Amino acid sequence: MINIPKGTKDILPFDSYKWQEVRRVVTTLKHKYNLHEIITPVFEHTELFVRGVGNSTDIVNKEMYTFTDKGGRSLTLKPEGTAGVARSFIENSLFNETLPLKLYYISPCFRYEKPQAGRLRQHNQFGCEMFGADSVEADAEAIMLACDFYKSFGINPTVLINNLGCTECREKYKQVLKQYFEPKIDNMCEDCKKRFETNPLRILDCKVDICKEQAVNAPKITDVLCAECKTRFETLKQLLTSMDVNYKFDPMLVRGLDYYTNLIFEFIDEDKKLGQNALGGGGRYNNLVEELGGKPTPVVGFGIGIERLLLYLENKGIAVNNSDEVTVYVASVTDNITEVIKFVKYLRDNNIATEHNISNRSLKAQFKYADKIGAKFVITVGDNELSSETFAVKELATGRQEIIKKQEIIKFLLG
Ligand code: HAM
Repeated sequence: MINIPKGTKDILPFDSYKWQEVRRVVTTLKHKYNLHEIITPVFEHTELFVRGVGNSTDIVNKEMYTFTDKGGRSLTLKPEGTAGVARSFIENSLFNETLPLKLYYISPCFRYEKPQAGRLRQHNQFGCEMFGADSVEADAEAIMLACDFYKSFGINPTVLINNLGCTECREKYKQVLKQYFEPKIDNMCEDCKKRFETNPLRILDCKVDICKEQAVNAPKITDVLCAECKTRFETLKQLLTSMDVNYKFDPMLVRGLDYYTNLIFEFIDEDKKLGQNALGGGGRYNNLVEELGGKPTPVVGFGIGIERLLLYLENKGIAVNNSDEVTVYVASVTDNITEVIKFVKYLRDNNIATEHNISNRSLKAQFKYADKIGAKFVITVGDNELSSETFAVKELATGRQEIIKKQEIIKFLLG
């Protein structure tokens, strides 16, 4: 037998309702927030991610699924959604549309990571990217949208926020960090030695114990922020408070992608029951579009891991709305299959989720099957019912049975 590749998952038939619920919630948010869907290819030119996500990141250095196609091009399965959307924004001149333009996607992402609970080699993200708005209101809008998504599933994760500052603040911070780590770097991991040269900010994100110890007393970005960046961050905090967002300032938050400027945020589970506690993350990236060859365009966005969300809900015992449920099972006790089929069609034409006897079962076996598939009602159809157009409708959970005229049946079932 050939097994599924390591770090990937089948979404099995009795779990797929959870994914349908995710799509339903996203569609509701699309209307509420004036979002437009964008679908970009699963693979892109490798260079897009090297330039976009950044060659000091683990994603680019260690985790990309890169291959050479038959034409000799280096292509990569997208490790995240943002770079492809930014590429498409530039290539399709979406900057000529009315801005701000708020885009969203649900897309698979591929990272060659060590698989564990909540960490997969193929995962899916609901992502949103808001192009062309540099305001603090846009920052708040991105966080509000993500919180609204989580709220639809009955959860309210903590939002960690940090500010990486403008280009000048960040450059200053990198220098301050270099000075701080210089006497320590020889005792740190090989990756951090490289990070020290390419992007010392990445050192703060290192998971190796010795590096974490060295970083504990590192200077905070807040020590070097300019007055404008500070004021902006304070305003954002006020907006989040006014929206009842459960946020916390985390000066050590850096995030694993190089394109961020100013605001970064992460949605986490504070009780850390889940091995991978980041349920989602995002931030502002005002230089990426220009770095990829477009006109300077401010953008703020986020990505939410769908598998992580579903695993989190499962661990917390929170049920996901199940729209797969069957409302009616039509149990047939007549040879007049034409009229039974017509009755089934009548129910479905009126949007009633209906299952019926397509495998020649006895009445008893039909009831058993109806119970197994979770049907709410069983309507038994025999010759008498067909001629009188009156049906016995039995509610399985209570055993309650009512005799109902055909023309009243839809109202009854929907009621
Ligand atoms: P990210 O933090 O790398 O950001 O990923 C976003 C979310 O995807 C994570 O918080 C997590 O829930 C989920 N995720 C990431 N890697 C895995 C994995 N190996 N297995 C399961 N779930 C995973 C980004 O990707 C940015 N593009 C987000 C963004 C959009 N920033 C601005 N716009």
